[in-house]
Amino acid sequence: MMRSESRVLQVNLDDDEFHTTVRNSLRQRPRAIPPKFFYDARGSELFDLICTTPEYYLTRTETGILDDFGADMAKRIGASCVLIELGSGSASKTPLLLQHLADDAAYVPIDIYEPHLLQSTQRLSMLFPEMRMHPLCADYTRLPSVKFDGYAGRRRVIFFPGSSIGNCTPDEAVQLLRHAAQLVGANGAMLIGVDSKKPPAMLNAAYNDAAGYTAAFNLNLLARMQRELGAQLDLDGFAHYAYYNAALGRIEMHLVSQKRQIIDLENEVFQFDEGETIHTENSYKYTVQEFQQLARAAGWHPKMLWSDREGLFNVHYLSLSANEPHHLPQQGR
Ligand code: AVI
Repeated sequence: MMRSESRVLQVNLDDDEFHTTVRNSLRQRPRAIPPKFFYDARGSELFDLICTTPEYYLTRTETGILDDFGADMAKRIGASCVLIELGSGSASKTPLLLQHLADDAAYVPIDIYEPHLLQSTQRLSMLFPEMRMHPLCADYTRLPSVKFDGYAGRRRVIFFPGSSIGNCTPDEAVQLLRHAAQLVGANGAMLIGVDSKKPPAMLNAAYNDAAGYTAAFNLNLLARMQRELGAQLDLDGFAHYAYYNAALGRIEMHLVSQKRQIIDLENEVFQFDEGETIHTENSYKYTVQEFQQLARAAGWHPKMLWSDREGLFNVHYLSLSANEPHHLPQQGR
């Protein structure tokens, strides 16, 4: 029997947000558009392709950690929990955790792009037919407007893989972690994947893959402006630029104007000089201590951590309960 909802609940999406954000961003200097707008159909597809490149170590490293330690993670979070995944996308790593949960656990994927959400929930409910699944189509960067009150009495656990927390500034990250704490309540917990600081050459390569998927992903934002907003612009007049800003501990992605030119949005003309950029994404990298400090500032207690051998990536277990032990009693495996 399939227990998942085939209906996707729409929560806090604003149809006009892309339009108003782009217009306001182009009016400002420096110009910046939040990365959540990358994820239309083409952007989601390109992101999945980025995850397969040899340079983008994040996905395969985190997958390896979940593969090795998924059973331990499930023990920590409690096998009958309600697992709420933020930005679930194609949810390719999720089975590595779900396979260790009990049949009476529930899964609540949250994603901004509805077709992806439906597809991945259908795939997961084939794999785990007994598990209840309730997809929510929502913008997780506006978590306070996400109301979910199912499964009273069950422990709620946020699953936030992929180092998506790195796409927030540190202040925004603390806010988001606070809002996540409110969503799960006093007994709640979180498993969160965080990319580590490492030599710039490796970071720069990860955001400049040879196949050009990251460049296409970045430029798709302009193509989306053409498709959805009727913007008039020269796609070839902009180039992808990504580099590690060591002082700020983050990869920055920009679209750089290759010449003096304009973007015309509904007859409003935005002038670009050669070299002027639209800042499209930050991807912060954190040491274990730096991330634990952010988590504490948001009211969480770091309890446990799983990493790969090279320390490229960490999955942190955070609890809202200060008294929860750091190590579970050995049950013998
Ligand atoms: C989703 N997010 C964590 C990715 C990252 O690494 O910041 C998005 C991405 N941008 C370029 N490549 C991948």
